[in-house]
Amino acid sequence: MTQFDAVDIIRAKRDGAKLSREQIDWTINAYTTGVMGDEQMAALAMAIFLNGMDREEISQWTGAIIDSGERMDFGSLGKPTADKHSTGGVGDKITLPLAPLVAVYGVAVPQLSGRGLGHTGGTLDKLEAIPGWRADLSNDEIMTQLGEGCGAVICAAGAGLAPADKKLYALRDVTATVDCIPLIASSIMSKKIAEGTDSLVLDVKVGSGAFMKNLEQARELARTMVDLGTDAGVKTTALLTDMSTPLGRKVGNGLEVEESVEVLAGGGPSDVVELTLELARVMLAAAGQPDADVDRALKDGRAMDVWRAMIREQGGDPDAPMPVAKHTHEIVAEASGTVSKLDALAVGVASWRLGSGRPTKNEPVQAAAGIELFAKPGDTVRKGDVLMRFHTDDEYRIERALEALAGGVEIGGQYTPRESVVLDRVD
Ligand code: URA
Repeated sequence: MTQFDAVDIIRAKRDGAKLSREQIDWTINAYTTGVMGDEQMAALAMAIFLNGMDREEISQWTGAIIDSGERMDFGSLGKPTADKHSTGGVGDKITLPLAPLVAVYGVAVPQLSGRGLGHTGGTLDKLEAIPGWRADLSNDEIMTQLGEGCGAVICAAGAGLAPADKKLYALRDVTATVDCIPLIASSIMSKKIAEGTDSLVLDVKVGSGAFMKNLEQARELARTMVDLGTDAGVKTTALLTDMSTPLGRKVGNGLEVEESVEVLAGGGPSDVVELTLELARVMLAAAGQPDADVDRALKDGRAMDVWRAMIREQGGDPDAPMPVAKHTHEIVAEASGTVSKLDALAVGVASWRLGSGRPTKNEPVQAAAGIELFAKPGDTVRKGDVLMRFHTDDEYRIERALEALAGGVEIGGQYTPRESVVLDRVD
């Protein structure tokens, strides 16, 4: 490998130059092996944040991250594989009903997921609210569950998958370089391409609770990721979906498991059901089953059967009740009228402060903490009606959660009903 000096590479990007494939390969390798220090990568990440990367650089950066670790191969399963990735939102529990629903149709769903950081929840934190459930599976266990088992697996990505991204993501998180399209796209797609799925649907969130605050930015991120996937031979589609208000009526780990089970039982909030069905249709179309009646599989209990098997195969008890928080606190409407705003970021931060998220990487989350939402935008309330209920194990957290909600709820303001949670699609 050609040798470079980290300072020259940082300077080049700082001054707006395009990095060569050799420079990029050296950088990712040097950072992963500790030759390039955190302080140098932090400076380079900020230079990329400020000056961007073109399509070729993003593709090479992604390839170098993939090459930092192992590639998985599901070819021996003898069935198509489909995966979904969300860029992260508030109340976004869609993976939980979606993975078993798609597996009903004989498509393997290897859902390698992460933990929450910041105000967005993590799929593994949610499932860990289920007593006994295990996130850490070996590659052999993943293959067995996908092949001879229920066909769906939601688990942690192993340490061998894109290790450069693990290091880089942790660094970006503390250097204000997360919300950068080239870095987000390469981070997500390196893991998905290394995982080796045949097809991928991306749920790119748009709005206050998402990294991308407007449709234009979200389209650019979606386009970048779809191109990276397609170039790597992964059939990739993105749906742009609304994250201006939380998804569903429950936010927080155990609470979101409860709501997912409601959806799998044929009920649940309409936005969660709509998005689950839309994403399932895209995944199944990519896997060669465009006419699958996913609505029916959700209503007639087939998806629930796979869910129960999936939880059991990973050591969990699907019948166990969710943990109950030690303290609750209700927020009531101060006026009568139509709820015109329920801000996703405000609710996400409030839930996080109640204990559903972690302030730093290694702290535990509370399984029972979170928020139940009794009124969503468009609902009519009367003065004194309960708008939401906080759940937490620590009473002192309530005050700070209330502060986070300030300005996030509005009754009687301008309200435009949304037609669908899906705003756009990029193929
Ligand atoms: N999720 C990721 O895995 N990486 C990012 O950069 C952002 C969201």
